[in-house]
Parts: sequence; structure tokens; C-alpha cells
Amino acid sequence: MSKGKILIVDDEKNITKSISNILKREGYETVLAYNYEEGKEAVFNKPIDLALLDILLPDGDGLELLKELAEKKRNFTVVMMSGHGTIETAVEATKLGAYDFLEKPISLDKLLITVENGLRLKVLENENVKLREEVEKNRDDFIGESPAMKDLMRKIETVAPTNGKVLITGENGTGKEMVARAIHEKSKRADAPFIKVNCAAIPNELIESELFGHEKGAFTGAHQAKAGKFELANGGTIFLDEIADMSLDTQAKVLRVLQEQEFERVGGTYSIQVDVRVITATNTDLPSRVEDGKFREDLFYRLNVIPFHIPPLRERLEDIPPLVKYYFEKFANEYDRAFKELSESAMELFIAHPWPGNIRELKNLIERIIIMIPEDQLNFDMLEELFVQSRMPSRRDDSGLDKILLSGQYRDSVSNFERLMIERRLKSNSWNVTQTAKELGLERSHLYKKMKGLGIQKPDIG
Ligand SMILES: Nc1ncnc2c1ncn2[C@@H]1O[C@H](COP(=O)(O)OP(=O)(O)OP(=O)(O)O)[C@@H](O)[C@H]1O
Ligand SMILES: [Mg+2]
Repeated sequence: MSKGKILIVDDEKNITKSISNILKREGYETVLAYNYEEGKEAVFNKPIDLALLDILLPDGDGLELLKELAEKKRNFTVVMMSGHGTIETAVEATKLGAYDFLEKPISLDKLLITVENGLRLKVLENENVKLREEVEKNRDDFIGESPAMKDLMRKIETVAPTNGKVLITGENGTGKEMVARAIHEKSKRADAPFIKVNCAAIPNELIESELFGHEKGAFTGAHQAKAGKFELANGGTIFLDEIADMSLDTQAKVLRVLQEQEFERVGGTYSIQVDVRVITATNTDLPSRVEDGKFREDLFYRLNVIPFHIPPLRERLEDIPPLVKYYFEKFANEYDRAFKELSESAMELFIAHPWPGNIRELKNLIERIIIMIPEDQLNFDMLEELFVQSRMPSRRDDSGLDKILLSGQYRDSVSNFERLMIERRLKSNSWNVTQTAKELGLERSHLYKKMKGLGIQKPDIG
């Protein structure tokens, strides 16, 4: 295999040929051109990896050719050659995108090193492009046709260019992070960093150093000074996810950054100024955390300048068919499967499912279907079976109801029933007490008392 295809454009035939021979000996393939026209023809029509371009050609200027190349999308490296090299031409060539400049007479060593490095650069650049495409490919389009989603998209457009603080609420998997990124990308800060901090995933004693950084020796284990996320996000956006999990201590510090746009590193003695837009998200009911004294009221009002609520999927059924279509196509493509449209009755199954894990659950299920079920077996019965399986836990709850109804004394039976019913309702509202109370027609405080009396607690789900 050749190490790469090199185009040599020079009107002095003996130079062209001898460069070509040297390169061929080293395992490269070469293409030769003796004037501007031939060079141009080769550059646009031959698959080459690197071009050596003489500046002075009988029928044109090598820099001109370079300029033309810059306007088209080219993915090879250009090295200029000249016998009358001046610094200025070299600088101009570099500005036009040339990788390097070789002065005649060309030294053999310099030639080989330049060609080798130039080719390596091309490989790196191509890898970068591929990586970027990979990231793009893994990103999902924003799908949503329900009025609520259309509203949300409009709101993103309006709010993004401002610096307004945004608080995004919504159940797990509704798309909070996706909305946060969209706001950043449509803002004037799009070219600056978007830094995500998952407050729930960081132990309390580490979160301050994570957010604000620390100086060397600030605590045991701080062997080196480290910048925090607020510093890293300077000029851009910081996304504080699961904000409700922050301790009151940390909340006080975050409040100060919001008020003064400055802070100190842990163990630091001077203030650091930053210009950061703050976007936060939570899946809990912050007002009730405020009421319970677990979340600072002043911080809540500061963060909640522009509230974004993303409704759960079960409240916007119109979005299910387009999402299902989108993800079937996406994963079929990714796993190289053919995919036929779902029948209407199959789609009904998707619409009827309660989706407690929202879009993330839907996406994962469809990926599983594409991986596990051969295309020709993907039919209604198969899908129905799959949905029944994923609803198993609630069936077990039904047998619990039987047990309550068919045994025990009146009083126990009634409170057991109460417990089961309230637990179920809370669960279906993702443990949002306010919402559940509203549904049940109870005062929130009354529901809290009931929960306490019946020993109902939100389970810890990791
Ligand atoms: N409107 C949408 N259209 C298409 N895909 C979406 C949409 N909203 C969310 N998704 C996809 O669903 C998944 C979950 O979204 P995301 O991580 O933004 O949710 P989240 O609310 O932050 O979840 P969690 O509370 O679990 O952190 C992601 O893979 C995302 O790409
Ligand atoms: Mg998230």
C-alpha cells in the first residue's frame, strides 16, 4: 500500500522528476504536473493527499491556485515551493492555508520531513472531522408536534439570545438537558463552553471544589490547584443539573456567584470574576423544598427568572408517533436494519404506554427492539408482549390489592387501601406531592400528613 498520493507541480521537469523519484523510493505515489493548468486539473480531479506547489509557473501563479483551493473544500495538505522565497510570500501562502514552505534548492531531509508531517496533519484533521460528525450523529433532533412542545421551541428561540437565567423542570427523561443545550447553542455564547454539572452525582464534600476549584493544599488530597466549573464555563454557560440536591452551604456560595459574578477557589485568597450564564434543572418540586427549608428561597427566585416546564410524555400523546418514527429510523439506520412503518394498531401500543421514564425510556425501548427483534418478526403480537413485560411491576401491585380486599380487619384494610392508592397516585405523578394533592382534591399539607401517618416515603431510586 502506498504511504500517500503526492502531487508535484513544477515547470522545471528535472526538479519534478527527481522529487518524484525520491518520494517513490520512500513508498509514496506521485502525480506530476508541469504547469498551472495541469496542476489545477489534477488538484480538482485526482484523489491526492498532499500537493507540492511551485509558486512561479509559466502560465500562472501558484498562490492563485492555492487561493482557488481554499475556496473549494479540499482535504489535502499543500506545501509551497519557490526558488525566490521571500518571507512575505511564505507568510501569504500560510495565510491562504498552505501548511509549509520549501525553499529551492530543496533539501532532501526537509522534503521528507515536511511531507511526512503534512500527511500526518491531514490524518489528524480527518479524524477530527470524523469525531465531530460522530458527536453530531449521536445528537437527537428536537422532535415535538404537540402545542406544548411547539411553545417550548418558540420560547427557546426567544430566551436563548438573552442572558436570562433559566430553570428547567420536568420528570426524568423529558429532555431537560436537551433544552439546556439548545438554549446555549442558540445564544451569543454558542462558541464558548457549555459545562454540565450533575449536582446529584457529586458527593457533598466535593461539590464546592468541583464548582469553584481549589488551591494547592486546600484540603488533604489537593496536590494541585484546579479550576472549577464556573471558571471553565467563563464566557459560556454552566448547566447545574439536579439542583435540588445541593446542600444549603453550597447554595449560599452559588447565590453569591449569581449576585456578584465572583467567587474564591476553595482555600483561595483572591476573588475570581466570571461571566457565566446559569441554567439549572430539577425533577423535584422546588417550591415544596423551599417550604421544607431544604432549598433557599432567595436562590430559588434568582434561578427561576425564566421557568421552562417540560410536560411528561403521557400528557402530550401527539408527540409519541413522531418520536417513535424518528427513533425507529435512527436506530434502524445505525444498526443497518431495514425498517417498515409500524401499523396503526402497533402505534396504539406506544401511545397507550404510560412512559414513566419518558423519552429516554421510549428511545431505549426502540433501540432494544431494533437490536433484538429481526425485522420480519416485528409484528403487533411481539410488541404487545414486550409492553406487557415492561408493565409487570404494576401487575404485582394488583395482587396486593386483592390481598387487602380479601383479608384483615376493617380498619387495617381501609388504611392499607389508602396507602396503596396514595402511593400509586404519587408514583404516577413522579412523587410530585402538589400535583397529586390537586388530583385527589386534597390540601397539600393534608396529603403530607396522610403520607406521614401511613408511612409513605418516596423510595430512593439510584
Ligand atoms: N424532544 C425530543 N426529541 C427527541 N429526543 C429527545 C427529546 N427530548 C429528549 N430526547 C432524548 O431523550 C433522552 C433524554 O433526554 P435528556 O437527557 O435531555 O432528559 P433529562 O430530562 O435531562 O433526563 P434526566 O432527568 O434523566 O436527566 C436523550 O437521549 C435525548 O436526546
Ligand atoms: Mg438530565
